[in-house]
Amino acid sequence: FEKLPVTIFEEAAEGAVRVAHEIAELIRRKQRLGEQAVLGLATGSSPIGVYQELIRLHRQESLSFRNVVTFNLDEYYPMEPDELQSYVYFMHEQLFNHIDILPENIHIPDGTLPIDRVKEYCQHYEKQIDECGGLDMQLLGIGRTGHIGFNEPGSSINSTTRLVKLDPLTITDAAKDFIKEEFVPLRALTMGVGTIMKARKIILLAWGEGKAKILKEMVEGRVSDEVPASFLQLHPQVAVVVDRWAALELT
Ligand code: F6R
Repeated sequence: FEKLPVTIFEEAAEGAVRVAHEIAELIRRKQRLGEQAVLGLATGSSPIGVYQELIRLHRQESLSFRNVVTFNLDEYYPMEPDELQSYVYFMHEQLFNHIDILPENIHIPDGTLPIDRVKEYCQHYEKQIDECGGLDMQLLGIGRTGHIGFNEPGSSINSTTRLVKLDPLTITDAAKDFIKEEFVPLRALTMGVGTIMKARKIILLAWGEGKAKILKEMVEGRVSDEVPASFLQLHPQVAVVVDRWAALELT
């Protein structure tokens, strides 16, 4: 029994295109109103196809991002922006370098801050989102721990942007990007579950059999901080977009 609406596509690529078109529609609607579109973005493998289609729409169908403001979910801590594993690097490679977004409209948590400035910075990140009028849409992936952003098991529904410890399973999954598990940072800055829940619309992507088990827990399980993504059952506007492999365990 599904407590969240799930849309299943044969192939991940089809789902990614559909999601990109929905985001493009939001951007264009806001343009017609003379308003900014405020997007919450994710890194990792899940959104890459969405970003590729957004780039194609920019190049071939004149989609402009000049009215778009973005806030990324998270960044490793500590992390320099020019490191290959940084989410700053990822976002520029995968999306920002290929579209006409204004650099001043891009926000990604700063992994370079000294530890004594982190708390204040996280409050400032929240405030910046609020001052833009809140997130119109938040794009999410899901980790095998059930994390959204880097809100690992134990994260409360009211949590805000903060420094967190990564779950051992998340560190194992990240090892492929860092050559060795020992090189994966132990911590990250992440928007909180509460930050994500304030978004007016949420789109969660899950592709591949590796996500089947946690997807079932998120969609059909009880709401619990043991699976932070299950909190999305309490949000009124969530779309869960998956391929048939991720959907394998849904009843
Ligand atoms: C990334 C993020 C993470 C990922 C999740 C899934 O910004 O916040 O929650 O969305 O770990 O990662 P992939 O898509 O690589 O399977």
